[in-house]
Amino acid sequence: MQKGLAGIKTIRDFELNDKVLFLRLDLNVPLEDGKITDDTRIQASLPTIQYALEKGAKIVMASHLGRPKAAGDKKYSLEPVAARLTELLQKEVILVEEPDSDGIKMLLTGLKKGYQLILLENVRYIAGETENDEVFAQHLASYSDVYINDAFGASHRAHATIDALPRLMKDRGIGFLIEKEIQMLDRLLVNPQRPYLAVLGGAKVSDKIEVIEKLMDLVDGFVIGGAMAYTFLKAQGIPVGKSLVEVDKLNYAREMFKRMEARNKTLLLPVDHVKALTIKDAKGEVTVDAALEEPYMGVDIGPKTIQLYRTALKEAKTIFWNGPMGVFENPAFSKGTFAVAETLAGLDCLRIVGGGDSAAAAEASGYAAQMSHISTGGGASLEYLQGDRLPGLEVLRARNRG
Ligand code: 3PG
Repeated sequence: MQKGLAGIKTIRDFELNDKVLFLRLDLNVPLEDGKITDDTRIQASLPTIQYALEKGAKIVMASHLGRPKAAGDKKYSLEPVAARLTELLQKEVILVEEPDSDGIKMLLTGLKKGYQLILLENVRYIAGETENDEVFAQHLASYSDVYINDAFGASHRAHATIDALPRLMKDRGIGFLIEKEIQMLDRLLVNPQRPYLAVLGGAKVSDKIEVIEKLMDLVDGFVIGGAMAYTFLKAQGIPVGKSLVEVDKLNYAREMFKRMEARNKTLLLPVDHVKALTIKDAKGEVTVDAALEEPYMGVDIGPKTIQLYRTALKEAKTIFWNGPMGVFENPAFSKGTFAVAETLAGLDCLRIVGGGDSAAAAEASGYAAQMSHISTGGGASLEYLQGDRLPGLEVLRARNRG
């Protein structure tokens, strides 16, 4: 069974001069009132676009944005993305309103390569995208010479521009972003340097079970924070007040203590918290120990826990961080999450941050630039680490060539 990048070509392997390059990107950026609030995914796509421009390709870029229910819903338009790309590339980015438009062939004939690029409107405006529809894929393939997937964040979706389209293409491969993502994530899976710690946070144990299962034999310990810590504390008989607890995961948590002990591995849990009445409170109060009484809920890890986690992290040679330690979006409860980010920033070892909330937390902390790698894919990076096969990678392997 081929793993990692085995059997997958990269954009370097193709002659691009005068060729029509279909470039699937993940330009699914957060927007507020039509303004981009974080352009990380656009920035991360630039190396592949720049390379293709330099090599003389005629570029057709495609991406989804959000999950539109109706075709053409303006809220999900890639218009702001096209504007940002124009600024960053200093080239004309032509936004084609209908991703399945027949006009593209004409447009390509007159396209001034090196000066103009095409961006298709949100591919999810076409129902066939999420249905992995071959007819939509055939239309896209009809004008494309080379297919490159650089949409790491969407590679866990078997959608038409990720799966059906490359199936129809002889020349297909990945861009620089996916290459880097997989190389970095593989460093967490193949011969990681020890000690190796996984810092897991976020709301639910259930969201992380598969990754816990995969990492349990790989890591030397877990450092747990965020709301998911309360399920573990409750499983130990510690009162957790009104904190979020997944009752149906208490047994799993109990078993996990035993399994970690049997493997001689550590499982660190908070020894104190910041408590509040709601997650919107303007300030919280630090608890004396791990216990929480009603009507309070835990909203962040406390100072003793920060110290404990800091000490453990400083010993590590490999760290994977996924999930915030508390409700970091509220500045009153961001200390624990930002302290983890600050600690990681000061270390010299391999520090990889999962996408989604963790990437947003690292960004908000101001320490993002100091991490070894922050994944641009939330779901995709977790699925990859869990050992799931990403459709967007599998379709590109040599053995799957039609
Ligand atoms: C993401 O934001 O994780 C990716 O762009 C995938 O988006 P999706 O979860 O809507 O498929």
